[in-house]
Amino acid sequence: MNIIRARDFEDMSMKAADIVSAQVKRKPDSLLGLATGGSVLGLYANLTKDYENGNLDFSGIKTVNLDEYIGLDGVHDQSYRYYMDNNLFNHVNIKKENTHVPNGMSRDPGIECERYTNLIEKLGGIDLQLLGLGLNGHIGFNEPGIVFIKDTHVVELDESTIKANARFFAEEARVPGKAITMGIKNIMNAKKIVLCVSGKQKAGILKTVLFGDVTPLVPGSILQFHPDFTVVADEEALSVI
Ligand code: GLP
Repeated sequence: MNIIRARDFEDMSMKAADIVSAQVKRKPDSLLGLATGGSVLGLYANLTKDYENGNLDFSGIKTVNLDEYIGLDGVHDQSYRYYMDNNLFNHVNIKKENTHVPNGMSRDPGIECERYTNLIEKLGGIDLQLLGLGLNGHIGFNEPGIVFIKDTHVVELDESTIKANARFFAEEARVPGKAITMGIKNIMNAKKIVLCVSGKQKAGILKTVLFGDVTPLVPGSILQFHPDFTVVADEEALSVI
């Protein structure tokens, strides 16, 4: 495990973007596993800048996102498809058909999950997986539980996750109760994993994830077993480590 210390959110966003840029340059047809949420917003802004400055080419890049809310379609402003389109895809030269997000409107979410797991394999596996960290230790939407669920699955969101994500919605009651998420095996099979963590409120859970027992009660703790795992975190997030 490699810990990169950043000063603050901006510095974390730059350092993490540098890792993704290097991947895109090293392997222009990479499959990137992408995350949503506040932690990676600055990173996407930096990638957009790199593209605008002529330093990055996304024309051969393919992407698979970690998760999506069930019941939100791609034009809903809180869907993760909308987030990706508006924070990255619409601003760079990626081909839209090469970008994949689970379909939260699928009539049969079980079949959608199977399709998504197969898709990741069909695309050759993830070269670099970006992650944020939930306050309860979740990665993607893999919530704390008694087992690590391996493949893409439907999940009932934790009360704490609904509360944490309510800040993006008009009111808490509008946060969907369910989501589709890549499973732990899909994430751990990525060749390289980069976890972005910022802010004081994540300090305690980050310490538990990186140095506590490896347990499905803290889903991110499994990352300790990954052979190429980098954490980019700011001073506040690293304040108790
Ligand atoms: C959300 C997403 C995760 C994200 C995490 C952290 O619920 N499903 O993919 O990484 O929680 O979010 P944030 O970066 O906004 O703290």
